[in-house]
Formats: sequence, C-alpha cells, structure tokens
Amino acid sequence: MKDKLIIFDTTLRDGEQSPGASMTREEKVRIAKALERLKVDVIEAGFPIASVGDFEAVQAVANAVKDSTVCGLARALDKDIDRAGEALKGANSCRIHTFIATSPIHMKMKLNMEPEQVIEYAVRAVKRGRQFTDNVEFSAEDAGRSEEDFLCRILEAVINAGATTLNIPDTVGYSVPQQFGATIANLMQRIPNSDKAIFSVHCHNDLGLAVANSLAAVINGARQVECTINGLGERAGNASLEEIVMAVRTRHDVFDCEAGLNTGEILACSKLVSSITGFPVQPNKAIVGANAFAHEAGIHQDGVLKNPETYEIMKAEDVGWSANRIVLGKHSGRNAFKSRMTELGHGFNTEQELNDAFFRFKQLVDKKHEIVDEDLQALISEVNSDAEEERIKLIALKVCSETGEMPNSTVTLCIDNEEVTGSSIGSGAVDASLKAIESLVKSEATLELYSVNSISSGTDAQGEVTVRLEKTRRIVNGQGADTDIVIASAKAYINAVSKLQALELKKHPQKGNV
Ligand code: KIV
Ligand code: ZN
Repeated sequence: MKDKLIIFDTTLRDGEQSPGASMTREEKVRIAKALERLKVDVIEAGFPIASVGDFEAVQAVANAVKDSTVCGLARALDKDIDRAGEALKGANSCRIHTFIATSPIHMKMKLNMEPEQVIEYAVRAVKRGRQFTDNVEFSAEDAGRSEEDFLCRILEAVINAGATTLNIPDTVGYSVPQQFGATIANLMQRIPNSDKAIFSVHCHNDLGLAVANSLAAVINGARQVECTINGLGERAGNASLEEIVMAVRTRHDVFDCEAGLNTGEILACSKLVSSITGFPVQPNKAIVGANAFAHEAGIHQDGVLKNPETYEIMKAEDVGWSANRIVLGKHSGRNAFKSRMTELGHGFNTEQELNDAFFRFKQLVDKKHEIVDEDLQALISEVNSDAEEERIKLIALKVCSETGEMPNSTVTLCIDNEEVTGSSIGSGAVDASLKAIESLVKSEATLELYSVNSISSGTDAQGEVTVRLEKTRRIVNGQGADTDIVIASAKAYINAVSKLQALELKKHPQKGNV
C-alpha cells in the first residue's frame, strides 16, 4: 500500500494573485466544482480577510463543495483567523491555513519582528485556528531562504500548538531540487515531533523549477503538494497540478506515494481555468497544451501508429483529451441538457433559469450541430454574466467587410433599458465593432489583452474571446463565445465593461498581494 499524496489546489487563491486573473465569486464556485470532480483533496478558496468579495467567495465555495476540504488563508493574526473561520462555517470539511514569514530578510524588513516574536505569533495563530477546526496548516513563508535551525524551532512549536500540516513554501522560487529535497529530509529528521504532522511544499516557478522542486520534496518525504491548474500564480506561477499529478502517476516506479485523482478531468479543469482567467495555455505546455500529444515528425508518427508506447509515455485519454466528445445535439431534450449542465456543476434554481439556458442551447444547436462540454461551459459563462451584469446588452451587430475597404460596424446596445446605436470604422471587423461599442459605453478603459480561442474543432466551432480592460488600476477580464468571432468579441467587450462599471459603482478596491 502506497502513501497518499495530498493534492492541495490553490488556483483560487495564489492563482488569483496573477495580475489580471481575478475571478468573480460565481467563477470561483465553478472552478471549485470542477476541482471537486477532479477529486482534489484540498481547495484553497481564498483569503477571507483580503476583501468582502474574497470572504463571500470562500463562503460560497465552502457551501458548494461537498467532497473536498475547503481551506481559507489567514495571516498569523487573530482577526484574519476569525474571518477565515467565519467564511468556512458552511463547509463539510474545512482547513485554516495560517502563515508568517521566517526568512531573515522578511522578518527584519517586512515584519520588523525578532525571531522569538515570530514564533509567538505562529503558535498563537495555530492555537486560535484550532478553536475553529482541528485541521490547521502552518506555512513558514519564504522557507526557501530561511535558516534550517530556525525552521526546526518554529515548526516544532507549531506542531505542539496543534498544526496538522506544515507547509514549506519556496515563496520566491529560489530553491533548486537537490537542495530543496534535502531541506525537507533534514526537517523531517531533525524535528522531534515531525511524525505528528504532514509535510507540504508550495513552490513558485521563478526559475522554472517549481515542479522539479516539489517532486524532489515528495521523494524526500513531503506528502502534500500545493499547486495550481495550468501553473497559474504569483509572478511566474506555482507548480502545475497536472504536471505533478501525472509525473507521480507515470513514474510510479520512482514515487512511493499516489495522488488518486480523477485524471480524466484534468483537461476540462485546464480549459475552464484558461477560459475564466483569459490566460491561454501555450501549445507546448506539458499535459494540457494543444501539442502535448501531437506528433509531427514522420518517424514519430510511424512509430506511434505501430505502437503508441514507442513515443507516448501517457495516454491522452487519461488526462481527458478524448473527452471532447459530442455530448448533446439537435435532438437532445431539456432533461438531457439539464442533467449534463448539473454534472458540469451548474444547477438551476428556477424553471425560468432552465428555460432561458435551454433557449440559448437551442439557438446554439441551430448554428452548431454537435455540442461538446466546452460549448456548455461557455454557455454557463454567458448565462452567468447576463445574470450578474444586466446593464448592457447586445441587441444587434452588423459589419461590412470588403477587400480594399475599411470595415464598418454598426452596433445596437440596450443600456439601462434604453436602445442606442453607434457606428465605427476600424482596421478589421473586430476593431470596428469594439470601437462602435466604445462610442456608446464610453468606458475609457485601456485594452490590455484580446485573445481568441477555438472551443472545439471544425470551422463551425465557437470562438471564445477574452478581453482584458484596465482603468485606474482596476483590471477585469470579459468573456464571450459565439460561432461568429466578431459577435464573440462584442460580447466579451460588453462583459468586461459591465464588470468594470460594477466595480466602479461598488468602489470596490482590488485586493493586493499577500
Ligand atoms: O508563496 C507563499 O509563500 C504563499 C504562502 C501564503 C503559502 O503563497
Ligand atoms: Zn505562493
């Protein structure tokens, strides 16, 4: 019997700290449900003290997720821990994750604290966390640059205070595998009560070593890895969940532990996170990149045809590549639609909600006969964004595009129940349409990113567009999907402007980094 490797996903917390990757509460719940289907052990849902939005998102995830443990982050301060405890009240199983920096530079320059004081704060925080749950994780922030002797002292103290998981983060991505692995082995060997807690690692990817460092730690005894879908996270990101999970599974000869995830859901999670955040996955990204299982060279293709194992170390189906199958079509009824949407984590509260969504599904099926899960995910995004931001609606769009002429677009919107029409020329059909919309909504935001992804294959595939807008340091992503990419672009722009306006109305400050 192999040890269990606990997979702790922090896409919703550390992942969201990537500039521009902020997600709404609803989007976080959808990702959390996808992570639950993947059978992730722990979902870090956010940092409840950071903002009201974060608190509510953690609360919503705690209420929605049944099988995975839901975790909230807290600095080693009473008010943070109480807020996390409050947000997690509705969870079936919860964890409080408290942290304080332990490296000389962080203690002196950031915290302005003596090492003894840091130990006192850590112990107090863990004890307070235990008043809410018996599942408390302690992180020694910047452990990668901390002194081993000090780590031994603080970790021994927090275990005595009741910490059940000890996380060793390489916060700035400075470690290298051999040394990081040795640190884990030394800590486990030197700390007298180390057998009373699970050792965990959380590696950042500044030197491109996050996965390698995490795996070195696992070889040396760590039994929890903190990671994110697509390696999302602060700066260069965190260790990528899909790479960790597939490395441990594929090289079971090397690792004496196993994760037990439902790996067939990996690709769906990756696509969902990419579409919600607007961070595309590079084609050559391991496991989830479009080329990860594609063979170009003739000699490779020949070998794979004779026997896939000549060049393939994993099966594409094992991570969900074959899941891009037709799930619904022209003849699918409301029940089939409702049940697949529910499986994808989107239940309906009222008959009206179901009817509206089914109506959109029927419209889509008229244009595109074969509907795959990704189409349904895009439909969910659309239904949700309409429900959340009703102020601006696209009524009509007409583009005239002709060789040798400047494209011209005329757009009619309904803004606060009033129909308005505007026109613009542009360097292309998309440019003209977005300019026409801007002439009506007057957001004055800067376009930071425009990307189009094909949701499935075929020329009738839906294009999914992400638009990132920035205004007075507020950054929002808008999404839109349609079989016509000009319309998808218009929807995405309107979605982003609506989010920006909602933020402005709330005067809701975006949260800073931890
Ligand atoms: O990178 C880091 O140190 C963190 C901690 C809060 C675990 O994200
Ligand atoms: Zn981190």
